[in-house]
Amino acid sequence: MQELFTETRVRPSDLVMPLFIDEGISRPAPISTMPGQSRLPVGGLPAVAGKLDVLGLRAAILFGIPKGKDPGATRAYAPDGVIQRSVRAIKKAGPDFVVATDVCACEYTDHGHCGIIGDTGGGQDLLNDPSLELMNRIAVSHAEAGADIVAPSCMLDGMVGSIRMALDDAGFEDVLLMSYSGKFASGFYGPFREAAQGAPKFGDRRSHQMDPGNVREALRETALDVAEGADMLMVKPALAYLDVIRAVHMRYPQLPLVAYNVSGEYAMVKAAAANGWLDEARVTLEILTGIRRAGADLIITYHAKEAARWLQAA
Ligand code: PBG
Repeated sequence: MQELFTETRVRPSDLVMPLFIDEGISRPAPISTMPGQSRLPVGGLPAVAGKLDVLGLRAAILFGIPKGKDPGATRAYAPDGVIQRSVRAIKKAGPDFVVATDVCACEYTDHGHCGIIGDTGGGQDLLNDPSLELMNRIAVSHAEAGADIVAPSCMLDGMVGSIRMALDDAGFEDVLLMSYSGKFASGFYGPFREAAQGAPKFGDRRSHQMDPGNVREALRETALDVAEGADMLMVKPALAYLDVIRAVHMRYPQLPLVAYNVSGEYAMVKAAAANGWLDEARVTLEILTGIRRAGADLIITYHAKEAARWLQAA
């Protein structure tokens, strides 16, 4: 009888799979900090997307690792850039599979920061408005390649409004904007930075990512993104921020809310499971259920593929 009264469920279609695509490889390269995850070659993507689809997963979010980096992140918006080619490859093989793209520059700049760096008066740091121009170009180039959703993750002020206008001007009114509205300056991104090779060479991201102690600030940041036209909101990371997920869900029930179950959260479970300390399937489904219960509609998770299998077997 218990199943009749289950309040919160997780379905494979609630999960979004992050994929790392490396322009410089021709076969998958395992990511040491994220067991079970690999950097993928562009050519392997249609097959990967096809497998996700069979498991009931409907969407992926793409992160690119370019061959070359420069201060202006030019490979981030090149028509033949790694993400642009990847989106085209997936959409050609399966037009219904939903493709989201991360819009940020940290994987494409030689300094590893999320946009254009310059003297802010208090030393070298991210310049907000020049970086917005760059994000517009990146987002439009992803839309031109066929992305369904663009997801700006740089936490620049005004990024949602700026990208929305640029997309609309270029004729992409139907491309959705998933804003990383509540993104915290977190140690849980450590394994990702090794995977995507986008760690800052100097300084950190604390000038634009949020202080882990702040939930009201997260609501303020979210309010700006809602006013600027975000179609979906996000809280990231998930586990240490379940109260933030709940607060955003209560304040903005009209918009889909995405939680990003980030690389460090994945790595913790994998490490404990590898040691035999935790039952991986059980705790993973429990974690995903908890994130949904807190108020997330969708969850970006490196466990998506395995979770879909465990859900099918349950
Ligand atoms: C920035 C970006 C990061 C993540 C997603 N997009 C890294 C950062 O902000 O330092 C982290 C995701 C994860 O840890 O799984 N492009």
